[in-house]
Amino acid sequence: QSNFNQKIDYVFKVVLIGDSAVGKSQLLARFSRNEFSIESKATIGVEFQTRTLEIDHKTIKAQIWDTAGQERYRAVTSAYYRGAVGAMLVYDITKRQSFDHVARWLEELRGHADKNIAIMLIGNKTDLGSLRAVPTEDAKEFAQRENLFFMETSALDSNNVEPSFLTVLTEIY
Ligand code: GTP
Ligand code: MG
Repeated sequence: QSNFNQKIDYVFKVVLIGDSAVGKSQLLARFSRNEFSIESKATIGVEFQTRTLEIDHKTIKAQIWDTAGQERYRAVTSAYYRGAVGAMLVYDITKRQSFDHVARWLEELRGHADKNIAIMLIGNKTDLGSLRAVPTEDAKEFAQRENLFFMETSALDSNNVEPSFLTVLTEIY
């Protein structure tokens, strides 16, 4: 996969946003390295990981950016969104508040990002279904109203992680 001779056709910047502890960094770890850590620390500042993949016979380098959900640790907002062509807006299906804040994240995103950005709403932690606090239907309706893609995922057991990133990357391409 990491062939140094590989010709890259496109580099796509995708940003992760959403409240602290919803699982942004672990979704990124799962997608980029197929790893997961239960002892994930809160992100400070900004980090990114890349993964190169084939879509429609083109070599796409996905550059996925991750910042802190906590205000005091966040990256400079305008710099974070600059050049992003995709966004993953994540909430935790077991934390109602993280879903209630989605509208605010969307407002910030729309205020700073390109208006053609592809946006995926993600309800993460489906492995904790017995603790669910956000009905799938509520999120689906919100996504429809706001013109977002929507999927529920689990970074822990990998459910839908690959399809959610691929949907956004395919839409961009
Ligand atoms: P900030 O960096 O503070 O914004 O948080 P974050 O959104 O990056 O959260 P992070 O990925 O660090 O995950 C927070 C906690 O949730 C960690 O204990 C993770 O192991 C856990 N976690 C993340 N994804 C899942 C998941 O799909 N299922 C379960 N059960 N736990 C998860
Ligand atoms: Mg993080």
